[in-house]
Amino acid sequence: MWKCEQIVGAALDVEEAADLYRASTLAERRPVEDVERFSRMLAGANLVVTARTDDGRLIGIARSITDGAYATYLCDLAVDAEFQGKGVGRELVRVTREAAPRAKLILLSAPGAVDYYPHIGFTRHDSAWTLPALGA
Ligand SMILES: CC(C)(COP(=O)(O)OP(=O)(O)OC[C@H]1O[C@@H](n2cnc3c(N)ncnc32)[C@H](O)[C@@H]1OP(=O)(O)O)[C@@H](O)C(=O)NCCC(=O)NCCS
Repeated sequence: MWKCEQIVGAALDVEEAADLYRASTLAERRPVEDVERFSRMLAGANLVVTARTDDGRLIGIARSITDGAYATYLCDLAVDAEFQGKGVGRELVRVTREAAPRAKLILLSAPGAVDYYPHIGFTRHDSAWTLPALGA
């Protein structure tokens, strides 16, 4: 069995987290090979929920930034491919919402997950806007 719990992102082992991103395929679209940047992504997230098997294996993560009262941005949702389709992603989202129940959950979907989010209750927003990172 497995269970989800809220943790402090900075306490995560960076290489363990990178392995999970690779095992989920999310590493294809996140800078996990840039250790300094990926470490800051983990440490800077203030709402991190992980899923682990009973023997401690990291199999899922929901990495978010929240003000705790109005908005939570779900930056990354990733489940090890071996454990996908077993409800881990749904539970990670549930625990994330519970941690900041008054906050609206906002995310940008990866192409492979566009049908997933409506399936677990999300509504498409037709006036969401982004600006690219400045870089450097
Ligand atoms: C997308 C992802 C997080 C879903 O997690 P998961 O643990 O596999 O999903 P769950 O088991 O909670 O699925 C819940 C339901 O959604 C369905 N589902 C799962 N992945 C889906 C997908 N990509 N598209 C449509 N439906 C999907 C499941 O079949 C299940 O349906 P059911 O409730 O009718 O049985 C996971 O597949 C993943 O890590 N994918 C690769 C990385 C990625 O794209 N992340 C999203 C970044 S925005």
